[in-house]
Amino acid sequence: MDLFRLAAPFYDGLMKVAGHQKTIKKAVEQVRIKPDDVICDIGAGTGQLSRLLPAENKLILVDSSDRMLKKARKKVANQAKIVISRAQNLSLEDNSCDLVFCIDALHHFERTGSALAEMKRIVRNNGAIVILEFDPANLKTRIMQWLEELAGEPGCFYSPDKLAAFFKKFGCNTEIVKLSSWQYVLLASDDLTERRSIDGF
Ligand SMILES: C[S@@+](CC[C@H](N)C(=O)[O-])C[C@H]1O[C@@H](n2cnc3c(N)ncnc32)[C@H](O)[C@@H]1O
Repeated sequence: MDLFRLAAPFYDGLMKVAGHQKTIKKAVEQVRIKPDDVICDIGAGTGQLSRLLPAENKLILVDSSDRMLKKARKKVANQAKIVISRAQNLSLEDNSCDLVFCIDALHHFERTGSALAEMKRIVRNNGAIVILEFDPANLKTRIMQWLEELAGEPGCFYSPDKLAAFFKKFGCNTEIVKLSSWQYVLLASDDLTERRSIDGF
């Protein structure tokens, strides 16, 4: 079953009920965004994140689902380049972005390790990677995992420490911010002092 092909028409409505924008906003507030940053959203879906980013930044929205991206296109007009690509084999140049976001998407990817290596490959020095994920130690995450696996999704959830270990292997500094009992944000950068935001952008 192609879950997001089926879900695309209903996705934004469901996310409204779930309060998804509030959660993403908390993730965006963790990182310092500069006006000339090129921002890439991997697993961008219908472009929920794009609504929360400054209008002057160049955006690249990447997703494997053309149906989800069709919805995104309506939100971003000319601000964004839309790329249909798999996260584990991105059709983007090395060092082509300053910020990489991956919001509620990593656990949907097959070969997560390759997807993380791709994020590191496309991000420039002094840039940052921001991942919003769900902690498998929490019961709500395990129920979500079970439901997603029933729908044929990989359901590959990493604990914050395990995810941080990948980026440490890549030579990045990392920080984990707990957003709720089950949601967390991982920030990875070679210069966290430059990219960490205390008050939001
Ligand atoms: C739960 S949605 C999240 C969408 C968006 N980031 C948000 O927060 O609303 C997960 C997205 O990951 C995409 N996806 C799944 N596997 C993918 C892959 N291998 N490469 C790129 N995108 C993928 C799906 O098509 C879907 O749009």
